[in-house]
Amino acid sequence: PPRYAVFGHPVSHSLSPTIHRLFGKQCGIALAYEAIDAAPEAFAQTVRAFLASAHGANVTLPHKGTAFALADQRSAAASRAGSANVLTRLPDGRLAAHNTDGSGLVRDLRARQRCDLSGRRVLLLGAGGAARAIAWDLLEAGIDQLTIVNRTADTAAALAGALGQTRARARYWQDLDALGSFDLIVHATAAGVLGQALPLPPGLVDDRTVAYDLSYGAAAQAFLAWARDAGARASDGLGMLVEQAADAFALWHGRRPQTDPVYAHLREGR
Ligand code: ATR
Repeated sequence: PPRYAVFGHPVSHSLSPTIHRLFGKQCGIALAYEAIDAAPEAFAQTVRAFLASAHGANVTLPHKGTAFALADQRSAAASRAGSANVLTRLPDGRLAAHNTDGSGLVRDLRARQRCDLSGRRVLLLGAGGAARAIAWDLLEAGIDQLTIVNRTADTAAALAGALGQTRARARYWQDLDALGSFDLIVHATAAGVLGQALPLPPGLVDDRTVAYDLSYGAAAQAFLAWARDAGARASDGLGMLVEQAADAFALWHGRRPQTDPVYAHLREGR
């Protein structure tokens, strides 16, 4: 069968092999999908060698920027993010980079979290790779205003500038207290992954706030606990993970699988 893999470092925790095998089974598409651990200095060579014979790769931390840089063709979503979570071998052997993180987030927010994005005031916490991969998609989904706050203020200002719209603005972390509340708060910093505290004022939350962490598992717990304490409806990024995988699957196989059964299966196991 055609071969696929997820590349990461570490990668043993990755749910992508399970997700893509379940999608394949559901759609009656035979495929082999493995997890490959590649150190940063070995990633480019390893993924090129793999894709010389395989069909596609998913890419997770810390390789998303390198995956984007090594590709011969880049989708609009990958280009604006400057990173790729999907690499596809084209018929002529060249490599195409895509980024389905933003589309995956928007689909999870709309379909699973029942979060209508149009006209919403959104706070984006963080301005690194994860934040850049989803910021344009939130604006395209019709939100009213995107406020970006990052520990390093310059990076937030740079992202707001790159977004190039009056609907996007950067604010200082120390001014979070003065910003009032938001309809949606998206947590995109690496603090949870690093096990570091992220002090946030409860006033960011009102009685209709949805709080969303782009990560899942242990990394999401501190932010979700803060959000629930403050009174928000809170979700981790497990649904986004399944939706970005379904978008990758559709790129590769020409068909988007049903995500609810796979999401339910993963949620039960956690
Ligand atoms: P990722 O791909 O996970 O986004 P990244 O590009 O290195 O990784 O970005 C990490 C993000 O988490 C940045 O926004 C970073 O803030 P800085 O730009 O100030 O470095 C943020 N971050 C990491 N640790 C943090 C902490 N302890 N508190 C707040 N923000 C943190």
